[in-house]
Amino acid sequence: MSNQSFQPPQRILMGPGPSDVSPRILEALSRPTIGHLDPEFIGMMDQLRTLLQYALQTRNRLTLPVSGPGSVGMETCFVNLVEPGDKVVVCINGVFGGRMVENVQRCGGVAVTVEDPWGRAVDADHLEETLKDNKDAKIVAFVHAETSTGAQSDALSLIQIARRFGCLTIVDAVTSLGGTPVMTDEWGIDAIYSGTQKCLSCVPGLSPVSFSEQAVDVINTRKTRIQSWFMDLNLVMGYWGSGQRRAYHHTAPVNSLYALHEALIMLQEEGLDQAWQRHQSNHNALRAGIEAMGLDFVVPENERLPQLNAIKIPEGVDDAAVRQRLLQDYGLEIGAGLGTMAGKVWRIGLMGHSSNARNVLVCLAALDDVLTDMKASIVSNAAVAAARAVLFQGQD
Ligand SMILES: Cc1ncc(COP(=O)(O)O)c(C=O)c1O
Repeated sequence: MSNQSFQPPQRILMGPGPSDVSPRILEALSRPTIGHLDPEFIGMMDQLRTLLQYALQTRNRLTLPVSGPGSVGMETCFVNLVEPGDKVVVCINGVFGGRMVENVQRCGGVAVTVEDPWGRAVDADHLEETLKDNKDAKIVAFVHAETSTGAQSDALSLIQIARRFGCLTIVDAVTSLGGTPVMTDEWGIDAIYSGTQKCLSCVPGLSPVSFSEQAVDVINTRKTRIQSWFMDLNLVMGYWGSGQRRAYHHTAPVNSLYALHEALIMLQEEGLDQAWQRHQSNHNALRAGIEAMGLDFVVPENERLPQLNAIKIPEGVDDAAVRQRLLQDYGLEIGAGLGTMAGKVWRIGLMGHSSNARNVLVCLAALDDVLTDMKASIVSNAAVAAARAVLFQGQD
């Protein structure tokens, strides 16, 4: 048994999440713990709701951070909205759509799947055809930003189709929130969940969720009791509801909520438009470097997420050995492929605080070095200059 404190190494986090947490957020995390029913804390919770409404671009009253990672946010949406026998159309274009199916089935619902190739956006026509054949569907669920492949779907088109067929929508915005536009009210999303560890650059373990009035009506008029006590929003709202009259539900993760508050203040200071622009510019620079190296992206350009770059591993290169060298020699973490893409792609995240020019250059220089040293067939010594040309146009 160790008697030493754990001292994590300093890393540069450029995988699929968590992303680097800014020192300002880490400082917020270390502030004194107070009671989760302390009036000062309750005041902070009200601010947190308003800040989340800004991040999610919504006026939904039922907007809160669930105490648990993105998976708990996902499950909160499904257990509250899906009753036994309900038909839910789930779009699958990667790992996380598959998890939605699991959720539907565990709620006793009937999942009808719309499957599109991994690495592509969800096909709107495909969804429409499926809904024509399933007019009794209650909900359409899809992942806005598929972290397993780096594909971004056209959320507005999918929601418009779902609404035409009278369906509610559940949208996974775990990787999109803070990195690319997520317009909850304008797009007409009914239930949305995200995570704190990606483009919000907060510590992992919280999941912002938000529900439209229509979704709240559906929850209030359920015929069956929600099978999860912890995620039953009727009970959670006893704590997260308005004003000072709040009842104990579970002990809120007080310090993590300080951190989220700080992360959202930082997002507000930067402004959503600016944050989206920053993610796009850094992606453009990384892309220039990756292409100069002779490597290819998995996702076609018009369906690509700026914050999650899936890159094909060149023939004959040992995926794990490269990632290990990057970690050992550069303290740099990039992600492996998931599911069917394991061993075939690297996932380079440019999320939140990690999305900056220095990280783009370090990542390209490190990849160039390691791949050249391993005698991979790439164009050496070209990537950094290509990225610099994009980052510092006219300044060099
Ligand atoms: C699109 C998507 N949905 C859901 C999740 C689950 O989030 P968590 O790992 O925080 O539970 C992730 C995590 O990477 C994700 O990328």
